[in-house]
Amino acid sequence: MPSSSDAAMATFIRGLPKAELHIHLEGTLEPEMVFALAARHGVGLRYPSVDALRRAYAFHDLQSFLDVYYAGADVLRDEDDFRSMTAGYLRRAHADGVVHAEIFFDPQMHTRRGVAFETVIRGIGSALAAAQAEFGITTRLILCFLRHLPAADAMRTLEEALPYRDAICAVGLDSSEMGNPPSRFAEVFRRARDEGWLAVAHAGEEGPPEYIREALDMLHVARIDHGVRCEADDALCRRLAAEGVPLTVCPLSNVKLGVFARLQDHNLKRLLDRGLRITINSDDPAYFGGYIAENFSATQRALGLTRGDVVQLARNSIAASFLPESAKLAWLARIDAYAAAH
Ligand code: ADE
Ligand code: ZN
Repeated sequence: MPSSSDAAMATFIRGLPKAELHIHLEGTLEPEMVFALAARHGVGLRYPSVDALRRAYAFHDLQSFLDVYYAGADVLRDEDDFRSMTAGYLRRAHADGVVHAEIFFDPQMHTRRGVAFETVIRGIGSALAAAQAEFGITTRLILCFLRHLPAADAMRTLEEALPYRDAICAVGLDSSEMGNPPSRFAEVFRRARDEGWLAVAHAGEEGPPEYIREALDMLHVARIDHGVRCEADDALCRRLAAEGVPLTVCPLSNVKLGVFARLQDHNLKRLLDRGLRITINSDDPAYFGGYIAENFSATQRALGLTRGDVVQLARNSIAASFLPESAKLAWLARIDAYAAAH
């Protein structure tokens, strides 16, 4: 049962300025919105109610989740749908103390269903602008390629994105990891970097440490998404610490998808104590039962993180972001001032 000191820590966490660096926009589509959009577009759903849909969110690995995740996104049809979903996430993120969010979107999920790239990016973009005006929250967009599809498909998607070059900050790599190594996308990522985009990639969520090395050496990523399986390779851990490579870790996601059996078994604290630049993120919060503050609080309780650890995790999130140096320094000072005052 949560104690009053747990409640005080949860309040401290919620008010702590932080960046979210690993959030899939399509993973913020709450069951209530699935039903509302399905009704709006006359789309039939396999589930009779919001509760029944929520009960179906029982996964045993990444693929069992992805099958449900791709099906859920079918209700996203027009610009307003993408605007509403994005606005819903940003409202929740702001309430959790997120001051800056670097947001993944999966255009191939939509273009394959006949929804135009322009529809997706215009809907998302209008919500990003509105949230910055309303909450002061800053954002970046990261275009993710689906790695279970051919590299040629990713290259076509990259070309479709070129007219919106300035709306996008980086490219990423997600979807089914096993059997889809980063090396398959070396050419696509080279082109993306030539076009001026930064790069990140999911690696070492279910896949082996070798995929983390490939992402670093062949895709030249600035961050590794997940990366928790690095622990099986001591030399890789030493390299990640020495090079200050950020890992965007998603604790509740890892438990829901069976990467760790229980949150108490998560290696986040061990990696943090080895000097890796760890951040906490929510991945697909509509499916995994918690937005970023809940990820912080649940992990803090399960692993006995100190207040110092929690502040370090918030500092890491800003340091690992793609914000300009001046903004990073300003937020780091705000974090320290908050910690000193609370
Ligand atoms: N797409 C959405 N969530 C994902 C995850 N946890 N791993 C890989 N691809 C994803
Ligand atoms: Zn992810």
